[in-house]
Amino acid sequence: MKLSTVFAFAAGALAMPASYSAEPLKNNETALVDYYIFNLALPEFLAKREAKDPPSLNWTSDGCTNAPANPFNFDFTPGCQRHDFGYANYRKQGRFEIHGKRRIDEQLLVDLRNQCKKATHVWSKVGCEGLAEAYFFFYRSDAFGGGLDATGHVNPGLNGMSLKAVRERKGKEKEAKEEEEKEKEEEEKEKEKEEKEKEKEAKEEEEKEEEAKDKEAKEKELKEKKAEEKEAKEKKAEEKKAKKRERRERFEKSWWRYFVFLLP
Ligand SMILES: *[C@@H]1O[C@H](CO)[C@@H](O)[C@H](O)[C@H]1NC(C)=O
Ligand SMILES: *[C@@H]1O[C@H](CO)[C@@H](O)[C@H](O)[C@H]1NC(C)=O
Repeated sequence: MKLSTVFAFAAGALAMPASYSAEPLKNNETALVDYYIFNLALPEFLAKREAKDPPSLNWTSDGCTNAPANPFNFDFTPGCQRHDFGYANYRKQGRFEIHGKRRIDEQLLVDLRNQCKKATHVWSKVGCEGLAEAYFFFYRSDAFGGGLDATGHVNPGLNGMSLKAVRERKGKEKEAKEEEEKEKEEEEKEKEKEEKEKEKEAKEEEEKEEEAKDKEAKEKELKEKKAEEKEAKEKKAEEKKAKKRERRERFEKSWWRYFVFLLP
């Protein structure tokens, strides 16, 4: 944030028309809190605080103990007390969202800079204003974001984060989610691929088995055929032999066998 922006904020806060022409009723706490923060002069606010008027409001304050060191002891405590009053009661009333918090922070800058007007020496005035801005930046920073979510509402799950930090976190979450989804998709693709491969393998195995079976069947057939052929051959040979034997027998029994030797 540029310094000029800070002054624009401060000017905006100063120029803001008084919302109330008279003090709201005590039972109207919302209006009363706004009136105390944004309409009352700081000393008037301190008087109300002293009297705890009304006691139903939250008057607790640690007086800027969180804020940057204040080595020259500029009297920032009253401004910080009003700032704490703003945070505590806006929280109490469920109004601690981004616009409300910004207005309260801007009021702190106005109060602190008013305090700086009391400084007598010009250099101490410059130092005071620098520190006032440092306080303002501190309460506007990530370290003191008050837990605002991206819609500017109090989100206990995002404790202490500024809008910027929340947006960054949301962006990162989105990125992570997208990455996860991508990974999942890839995993699924891989799985599908694996399944397809398995299917292919199974099919190939099946085909192989079928082939083997076919081969076996063919071999068996061939063997049977061969066996048959062999048998047939043997049978033929047997028949041939039988015929031969028969012929011989016939020859042996024939009367003309004695003349065979006489043939030329
Ligand atoms: C509280 O005061 C505001 C401003 O004066 C007014 O608009 C609102 O209606 C009041 N609410 C109640 C509940 O009286
Ligand atoms: C008052 O506000 C302070 C600071 O926000 C908080 O710690 C405390 O619990 C509040 N007190 C009550 C009674 O709500």
